[in-house]
Amino acid sequence: MSYIVALSGGIASGKSTIAHLFAQLGVPIIDADIIARQVVEVGTPALAQIVKHFSQEILLENGELDRSQLREIIFNNDHERLWLNNLLHPIIAQETQKQFAQQTAPYVIWVVPLLIENHLQADRVLMIDVSVALQLKRLINRDGINESLAKRMIASQASLSERLAFADDIIINDGDLASLTVQVDCLHKQYLHNLKVKKL
Ligand SMILES: Nc1ncnc2c1ncn2[C@@H]1O[C@H](COP(=O)(O)OP(=O)(O)O)[C@@H](O)[C@H]1O
Ligand SMILES: [Mg+2]
Repeated sequence: MSYIVALSGGIASGKSTIAHLFAQLGVPIIDADIIARQVVEVGTPALAQIVKHFSQEILLENGELDRSQLREIIFNNDHERLWLNNLLHPIIAQETQKQFAQQTAPYVIWVVPLLIENHLQADRVLMIDVSVALQLKRLINRDGINESLAKRMIASQASLSERLAFADDIIINDGDLASLTVQVDCLHKQYLHNLKVKKL
């Protein structure tokens, strides 16, 4: 099993962008968002539970989960959010461990947005530091949402200072893509070197 480096940061902090740079260096990527989608695909036990709880209305016409409707419900209702978390948490954890166990590379990047919020653990934590103003701007641009919703989404997550308290390493994403590439190359070399001499 590989060494697990958790890559985390707030919404639109640059997780996917940075994961892509690690992938270009040949590092396997395990994406918590993809796992979260896999466990509620059509035919899964989790989707059956969700339909039982929210009714068929929670499905799209093609039988898939209506994720935007579900997101809307849980953003506005703590009780429903808890219910959903309690259902999905153990299922996602089990699938994640399964995918970790299949890895053979020296290390893998586990992209995990809610590392802090969900009290998850990894061998090492790589956190993205981005100014809230830039994060907000990138979120609005990327998702085409209004400022008030974007602010609420950011506020619902752990704050930057809470995140950084858990960091072993930090990537600063206040610059351009070239700056990100330099930082990723540097961390990649450091991880491989440290694993070779067992300093991690
Ligand atoms: N250094 C950067 N320079 C310019 N745009 C960036 C940079 N980092 C991220 N972005 C853009 O900001 C948005 C959010 O980045 P993304 O990687 O999707 O964040 P996350 O996966 O953390 O939600 C995307 O549109 C992305 O292209
Ligand atoms: Mg992303």
